[in-house]
Amino acid sequence: MNNVTTDPRGNSAASRDIAFAIHPYTNLKTHLANGPLVITRGEGVHVYDEEGKQYIEGMAGLWCTALGYNENRLVEAAMKAMRRLPYYHQFGGKAHDTGIDLAEQLIGMAPVPMSKVFFANSGSEANDTAMKLVWYYWNAMGKPEKKKIISRIKAYHGVTIASASLTGLPNNHRDFDLPIARVLHTDCPQYYRFGQEGESEEAFASRLADNLEKLIQREGPETIGAFFAEPVMGAGGVIVPPATYFDKIQPILKKHDILFVVDEVICGFGRTGNMFGTQTYNLQPDMISIAKNLSSAYLPISALMINERVFQGMVQESEKIGTFGHGFTYSGHPVAAAVALETLKIYAERDIVSHVRKVAPRLQSGLLKLADHPLVGEARGIGLLGGLELVKNKKTRESFDPKHMVGAYVAKRTEAHGLIVRAIGDTVAICPPLIIEEVQISQLIERLGRALDDTAAWLSHNG
Ligand SMILES: Cc1ncc(COP(=O)(O)O)c(C=O)c1O
Repeated sequence: MNNVTTDPRGNSAASRDIAFAIHPYTNLKTHLANGPLVITRGEGVHVYDEEGKQYIEGMAGLWCTALGYNENRLVEAAMKAMRRLPYYHQFGGKAHDTGIDLAEQLIGMAPVPMSKVFFANSGSEANDTAMKLVWYYWNAMGKPEKKKIISRIKAYHGVTIASASLTGLPNNHRDFDLPIARVLHTDCPQYYRFGQEGESEEAFASRLADNLEKLIQREGPETIGAFFAEPVMGAGGVIVPPATYFDKIQPILKKHDILFVVDEVICGFGRTGNMFGTQTYNLQPDMISIAKNLSSAYLPISALMINERVFQGMVQESEKIGTFGHGFTYSGHPVAAAVALETLKIYAERDIVSHVRKVAPRLQSGLLKLADHPLVGEARGIGLLGGLELVKNKKTRESFDPKHMVGAYVAKRTEAHGLIVRAIGDTVAICPPLIIEEVQISQLIERLGRALDDTAAWLSHNG
């Protein structure tokens, strides 16, 4: 059957979408019945649907449109670059000035000493590359057994075969036959869910560090090549690490000579109130993956920053083999690189980090107020990143039955009130463009509150 002709909406954008498009992270079956929300334009922190309805984009798209939806300087930068050199690559020692400028700029602003930048097009590719480099590096070091990688339950590092393996979420593994071998997952650092009765945040962090040490000992420290972590876990449910967590994890990595890869795909470029989450949590990574806010998502570009230690291993290995056999056609695409350069220039000129620090308290205090709502078990967040975990019982923290899709209902109701958020199970994620103003944050909180009230009414109506 062809939905174009059978759909009562006729030849609308929605019916053509149902007919032809596959949507990531969508229940493909229910989408056939429900169809999409079709967004047609954007302005500032707002987007508009095909009926002209305005929404605050409370998720900055997918945690990425830092500068909002009509930053003309980025458009101009793209057009200029497109006219001058629409494409060139970086293979075989070729280069273009935009790629060189961007690499230099990123090394200059790296939160810890970094040596080189490798460009890719998505967060998944950057993390995939990091994983390959871990293996390449340990081969260079003559330790071919040091290849296992530890990630964390509820981590999100992407969806390619390697990065989806690093991701610690069941839906990214189930029936995709993942994770691949040599990827291990240690505890999720979510105090609200996994802290024990009477256990302090610090004691929880100590227990997790202890568990990590035990895992490493069980597997054999000589077999563990790297540890991957987001400073704040995003797509796993906006999980802010408990106090002292990274202070306790990092010495264990050092002790066993385990490389540390920090995934700054969400946290990078101001989100947590510092330029990088690495600074917020005092991290000492060997590699840092970045994407999303790097170009404010106006064009796809990602990168992996690599320290001198890992780079020296790569040099050695490529000399032995004859080439560094990795790279993407669009690595460092000159138009995307030009947009990223302009994005970084705007962040500096407008002091985006100070702006985030100025307005973030409005978001965090607003979310904390919503924590009093009967449906909210925990409000958490940092900077311009927040999450509300919905619970059936505030006291016992009992969750709703997932089949009732309470989080999804809240997200639907926020849409009705002109706000786009994301339901991650029963955690509502909020991650607005970094340019958001306090008055707009207040609107966001108010609309979210109304959606929670609607949901409470719906729940009580349905028993
Ligand atoms: C922390 C983190 N890493 C990696 C990725 C994957 O990025 P992409 O979707 O660009 O492959 C994401 C995407 O949301 C992310 O949040």
